[in-house]
Amino acid sequence: MSDYPRCDRGPSWAALQSHFQQSGAAFDVRRAFDAEPGRFARWSLQAPEVFADLSKNRIDERTLELLLDLAAEVRLESQREALFTGAPINLTEGRAVLHTALRAPAGQGPFSDEVQASLDRMLAFADSVRDQARSGITDVVHIGIGGSDLGPAMVVQALQAFVPATLKLHFVSNVDGHDLAPVLRGLRPETTQFIIASKTFTTQETLANALAAKAWFLQQGGTDIARHFAATTSNAKAAAEFGISTTFGFWDWVGGRYSLWSVIGLPIAIAVGSAQFRALLAGAHAMDQHFRTAPLARNLPVLLGLLDVWYRNFHGFTSRSVAPYHQGLRRLPAYLQQLEMESNGKGVDRDGASLPYGTSPVVWGEAGTNGQHAYFQMLHQGTDVIPVEFIAVKRPQYGEHVQGELLARLSDQHTKLLANCLAQSQALMQGKTADAARAESAPTASKDLAPDVLARHRSFPGNRPSTTLLLEALTPSSLGALIALYEQRVFVSGAVWGINSFDQWGVELGKALCNSLLPRLSTGDASGLDGSTAGLLAKLRD
Ligand code: F6P
Repeated sequence: MSDYPRCDRGPSWAALQSHFQQSGAAFDVRRAFDAEPGRFARWSLQAPEVFADLSKNRIDERTLELLLDLAAEVRLESQREALFTGAPINLTEGRAVLHTALRAPAGQGPFSDEVQASLDRMLAFADSVRDQARSGITDVVHIGIGGSDLGPAMVVQALQAFVPATLKLHFVSNVDGHDLAPVLRGLRPETTQFIIASKTFTTQETLANALAAKAWFLQQGGTDIARHFAATTSNAKAAAEFGISTTFGFWDWVGGRYSLWSVIGLPIAIAVGSAQFRALLAGAHAMDQHFRTAPLARNLPVLLGLLDVWYRNFHGFTSRSVAPYHQGLRRLPAYLQQLEMESNGKGVDRDGASLPYGTSPVVWGEAGTNGQHAYFQMLHQGTDVIPVEFIAVKRPQYGEHVQGELLARLSDQHTKLLANCLAQSQALMQGKTADAARAESAPTASKDLAPDVLARHRSFPGNRPSTTLLLEALTPSSLGALIALYEQRVFVSGAVWGINSFDQWGVELGKALCNSLLPRLSTGDASGLDGSTAGLLAKLRD
């Protein structure tokens, strides 16, 4: 039996339900601002490196009070301690979940000596590769998938301003050869460093790409595999069997989607250097400290996690959109999809009982302003309410090559970017009445339509919730804090829902079926297959 009460079985859940019926469902953010002049100050918060404006959300004092009651009922603080102190909270795999230990300063946190030794060794290697005059390396090809790809790929893209122009990092994940082939075009074995990243070193996609990369390396006359291939894995034996002798290991208490802080962060360290990698860890640690010590009512991961529960389980919103207004963060939505949906996409509680309430929302998004010209139409006027998370960065960093007239122009573009970000959250909240739409001129509208009908097409319901997160600049430290914020927020909602956020059995069935279908694609054997799969198999073999 789980040590923690189920969220839906205590008085707070029922109280939240009746609060929702009485006032939550009809809550109007616009009226809340009218009634509460200090609403922005009340519902915004400076956490380490991240300022958060929650004031455009459907939340008031009573909602927060009840959500905090719910947190107390499920003993959120005790669950949080179990996380930080290394209790085996990933109970289906009997493992602790200690990614926070990876970013704790030396001497603090569990396994500190092992963590620091592993970090020092990985960073020394990273700096040696980054020393291009000595290493001769111009290109790093990182091969991994899921948690062994998304974090490093997202972070390296976000921190391009810190990467030397002479060093290119490439990320290959898909088993589809169209991922690897274009990366290899133009590379030379003697200037290329491959990193094979796989916690288990059994993942089909990664092993296939690693074998293909090795074949290319030898085909191109490469000679020193030991020097040009390194592995980050907790299965050093399998890496050695593959022929890799430079191996960086880590522990079973580092989950794949929480592993960028471990040796899986090697491509990040090569890209930005050891000092900046340490800054990334420090930023994350600062957010961990905030999460661990700030009172729950002023604790940003707690507030965001509880808001997620409020929207998912009481408002019934099934998705959340993330809109980073920084091109460097364009892979953040994909990263968050794994973090949130692989962690909290669960249908049973810790005791294995089916859940009568929803868990992970669908998380999706695109960098602003691009998303505005694609799906924002639906956010503004569609039939579903989708809370949006805007992320803005105050100060841009384009690199030293951007100067003079170009710098002036790009700075002006940054102002436009920020104005767009503000405008979208404002529009979602304010909306536009049919009367206001009727009063406006609409030069491109059809003259044949009745004004009332046209006004209804051109009106916006408004009252659509959003959160805005602001960073001063996109640096290793602020990015570390931002990622840790998301990790801890996912922990909070998972803890309230009483699920195991740290396993991923849902990916196993497809893997097993793929292994059984693989030979059938060659032999055509369709025995025992369902009609659709058999039909498609035959089509593919035609
Ligand atoms: O998709 C399932 C998964 O197990 C993820 O959780 C993990 O991040 C990914 O596969 C890659 O696994 P590995 O690092 O073992 O190759």
